[in-house]
Amino acid sequence: MKTWLRDLPKVELHLHIEGSLEPELMFALAERNGVALPYATVEEARAAYDFADLQSFLNLYYQGMGVLHTEQDFFDLAMDYFARAAAEGVVHVELSFDPQAHMSRGVALSVPFAGLERAMREAESRWGLSTALIMSFLRDRSADEAMDVLEQAAPYYAQIDAVGLDSAELGNPPSKFAAVFERAKALGLPRVAHAGEEGPAAYIDEALDVLDVCRIDHGVACLQDEALIARLRASQMPLTVCPLSNVRLKVTKTMSEHPLPAMLDQGLKVTLNSDDPAYFGGGMLNNFTACLEAFDWDRERFKTLAANAIDVAFMPETRRDALRQRLASC
Ligand code: ADE
Ligand code: ZN
Repeated sequence: MKTWLRDLPKVELHLHIEGSLEPELMFALAERNGVALPYATVEEARAAYDFADLQSFLNLYYQGMGVLHTEQDFFDLAMDYFARAAAEGVVHVELSFDPQAHMSRGVALSVPFAGLERAMREAESRWGLSTALIMSFLRDRSADEAMDVLEQAAPYYAQIDAVGLDSAELGNPPSKFAAVFERAKALGLPRVAHAGEEGPAAYIDEALDVLDVCRIDHGVACLQDEALIARLRASQMPLTVCPLSNVRLKVTKTMSEHPLPAMLDQGLKVTLNSDDPAYFGGGMLNNFTACLEAFDWDRERFKTLAANAIDVAFMPETRRDALRQRLASC
């Protein structure tokens, strides 16, 4: 079954590329760029990845990405991840990145765009991996700053498949970014947002009502609200769930207590994703196998989850049809 899961064509819709930075590459880039790290060894870095909540993770996540300076760094970061993803049977990746977390360190917006774009093209030719790019705004910074980044990104709009919203959720409701998302909509950019990870179910409603998103990242808090469950079921709103992330950030205590089975029982359009694989115990395959071990799901259930992701991915219809055919033969 584990081999079958590896070979299942998997689509990753919720992946922070900065969260794919493994300690080995972090050390290599720190050396290359003369950046001091708070860890003496790779093992010490991994040992520090013991999180109490989302904020305690974000602190190390923003610190870790401080080694990324040049276009080549972003290229290397993405290629390192794409190689692992391809080896795990991932066939399409929607990578999100956080421009503000780089611009605030003096890295120009053009740098991640150039490095990631080159890696995305290389991944397509090397592994046949299709990709999409999501430019995310940091919700714990001001809406004015997000708006400014959106305007500065004008030369890259053709490269952006969607805008997103991430970082510290509690106290930073979706409505804070109403004007930014309205502008993105006017520009014709699709919108997604993290909601209901640590925040309440009401933030999911708000992301739908105010930001007009086409996907909710996480969304596990929806089970707190019957009316919201009915709404999400009726609209088949995609929820990009990240089980290992939820356990590592103490959103749920253990895998076996994870709300995924309940969400599926409610008829919700759920997908499985890895969020920040370098920090949370692995990529897509580890998330799939963790579900196998916790829930003993059969092949049909995993095929449904994989099919859900194919249904709602930002990809050309020809690619969608090809992936559906591949999945059908599994
Ligand atoms: N940025 C990177 N990972 C995140 C997560 N799990 N939640 C919110 N923001 C993030
Ligand atoms: Zn996320």
